[in-house]
Amino acid sequence: MKTRRIGIIMNGVTGRMGTNQHLIRSIKAIRDQGGLKVGDDLVIMPDPILTGRNHDKLAALAALTGVTRFTTDVDAALSNPDDEIFFDASGTLQRAGFIEKAVKAKKAIYCEKPTAVETAEALRLAKVCEDAGVKNGVVQDKLWLSGIRKFKLLKDQGFFGRILSVRGEFGYWVFTGLDADQPAQRPSWNYRKEDGGGIIVDMLCHWRYVIDNLFGKVKAVSCMGATHIPQRVDERGKKYDCTSDDACYATFECEGGVICQFNSSWTVRVRRDDLLTMQVDGTHGSAIVGLRDCWVQSAGITPRPIWNPDIQQPINFFEGWQKVPDATTYDNAFKIQWEDFLRHVVLDTPFPWTLREGAKGVQLAELGLQSWAERKWLEVPDLAKA
Ligand SMILES: NC(=O)c1ccc[n+]([C@@H]2O[C@H](COP(=O)([O-])OP(=O)(O)OC[C@H]3O[C@@H](n4cnc5c(N)ncnc54)[C@H](O)[C@@H]3O)[C@@H](O)[C@H]2O)c1
Repeated sequence: MKTRRIGIIMNGVTGRMGTNQHLIRSIKAIRDQGGLKVGDDLVIMPDPILTGRNHDKLAALAALTGVTRFTTDVDAALSNPDDEIFFDASGTLQRAGFIEKAVKAKKAIYCEKPTAVETAEALRLAKVCEDAGVKNGVVQDKLWLSGIRKFKLLKDQGFFGRILSVRGEFGYWVFTGLDADQPAQRPSWNYRKEDGGGIIVDMLCHWRYVIDNLFGKVKAVSCMGATHIPQRVDERGKKYDCTSDDACYATFECEGGVICQFNSSWTVRVRRDDLLTMQVDGTHGSAIVGLRDCWVQSAGITPRPIWNPDIQQPINFFEGWQKVPDATTYDNAFKIQWEDFLRHVVLDTPFPWTLREGAKGVQLAELGLQSWAERKWLEVPDLAKA
């Protein structure tokens, strides 16, 4: 068995996503399982070097995860030809600068979404990678969630017939920090536009690839945002003004006619099956798609409600749904995409989730903001040609 070491510069990984999803649940998990086996006689073994601004935080994270290499000098890390991949999970507004440097150093690029907050900038970054001929990819983690995989399995088998509509409900209550003992559970930059925040920029990137891949290419958007909570408390305990949207009410029209409505909100309390659920209704059946589970109801067992508010509802609508059983073991969604990217870099296998695909998410977010500002439906132009 041969081991192929692959050096990965992991930038901005002391943050929430970098630490939990990318370092601990992906790269460390791949190392702990003995590497990524890609054939009878080859194992790919990631060898990360952590980069960031704060030496002590990097040292603590390295110690926690058993990583031996870390530095605050990202340029020095980039100059090492033995590290082939540059990964970025730093702030959205910092991403472009890092990616450009890494492309100059001829690294393969992998990064968090959104790649930028404006379509022109996201496309420019995609072109920078394409012109330099470096492999590149953007996180599109939701595609590998077990709930979505279970739904897709049934959809591909024709369970739903013709899909008519999708109602996505995403969100939960993010504490404002104004109440005693209840600090916010998301970073404060999320609520400041000037720092790349806002739920439209954050979530429409996800809805773009989810809808494009499952329900048909998004061709038009109508979106309304809101800043429901005007003031929150930051990590240092200081009050700040919220300058970006914390809720978004959007409708998307797809090629093929499916209509998708997605509410995304950090100002709702949850009384549903999961933090993200999508109700998908089709002519032959329906689904409630959660992060991990998927429940379905077929046409044949659909109850027949009769409108009569004068009596107690005789039907328990939560009965009559079947939970789709596990078909396999479902690994962490981020880890699965990481493994695909590693295969892409080492073995040249296809990897369609490029920076150009990522730019489509930024495009939908930007059009969503524009639709809100102009209070009108907007067409989504084809970015493949741009
Ligand atoms: N895929 C997803 O579902 C998902 C979810 C949440 C966030 N994100 C994205 O991931 C990125 C990080 O979000 P987060 O929630 O982890 O935020 P975070 O604030 O927890 O982490 C950001 C990290 O970047 C670091 N950083 C900022 N500026 C830097 C600089 N100049 N140099 C080096 N490091 C720098 C910060 O110190 C911090 O460690 C954002 O772009 C966000 O949109 C993706």
